[in-house]
Amino acid sequence: MKKKIEFIVRSLLPDRIKKIHHIAREIFFSDKKLNKGIRELHIDQDLLNNCMFCENRRTMLNFLPKNSIVAELGTEKGIFAKQIIERTSPIELHLCDVNFTKFDNNNIISGRSVKKHEKNTLEFLDTFPKDFFDWIYIDASHAYKDVVNDIKAAKSKVKKGGLLIFNDFAHINPYLARFGVMKAVSEFIKNERWTVKYFAFNHSALYDIAIQRPLD
Ligand SMILES: C[S@@+](CC[C@H](N)C(=O)[O-])C[C@H]1O[C@@H](n2cnc3c(N)ncnc32)[C@H](O)[C@@H]1O
Repeated sequence: MKKKIEFIVRSLLPDRIKKIHHIAREIFFSDKKLNKGIRELHIDQDLLNNCMFCENRRTMLNFLPKNSIVAELGTEKGIFAKQIIERTSPIELHLCDVNFTKFDNNNIISGRSVKKHEKNTLEFLDTFPKDFFDWIYIDASHAYKDVVNDIKAAKSKVKKGGLLIFNDFAHINPYLARFGVMKAVSEFIKNERWTVKYFAFNHSALYDIAIQRPLD
């Protein structure tokens, strides 16, 4: 409940206030832990050899498995959910968000099996068996610890050969907010040796990365 209120308040702040807050936090409460290890981040070339570089995340969807069981963690207005439906025709699409007040139902094309789950990502993932999803798109909290926990919870919920796809594979956004996505995902790739299948360009350097669960 506390987290939900925090999300709503944060999303209502004007962009200038967000920027001032982020700069002040950098100056006065700089999180040394966040920078720790960044220079050591590395992905081995053999995990990148089969990666396709896509012009953007929408085009990336054209290459993803069709008629699949899919989840989007963090769906907000449903803008990307609409793209997922139009470009990949999932047989099941599960949308998870702590707060669906911004969601626009027009983004869901009728006749498709789309289910909304108003839960946090960990509660949501806990309700599914192992090896359930063909792919999961992760775009919820971007804080390092939260992404680490999302990966831990999601990695066994995709089938072998399935994909975890992360939005905002970056350290920082244009409003100067710190993101832990690049660190958490790079560490996971290194430790568990998942291969990188897709990487999508983004004008603000907030890239998407899709990684594949090993078959064995
Ligand atoms: C960047 S928006 C998602 C945008 C959407 N994926 C798109 O591209 O159209 C992030 C969303 O994640 C939700 N969120 C943040 N932390 C979450 C958590 N721990 N569990 C579930 N949802 C969360 C927020 O409420 C917000 O709506």
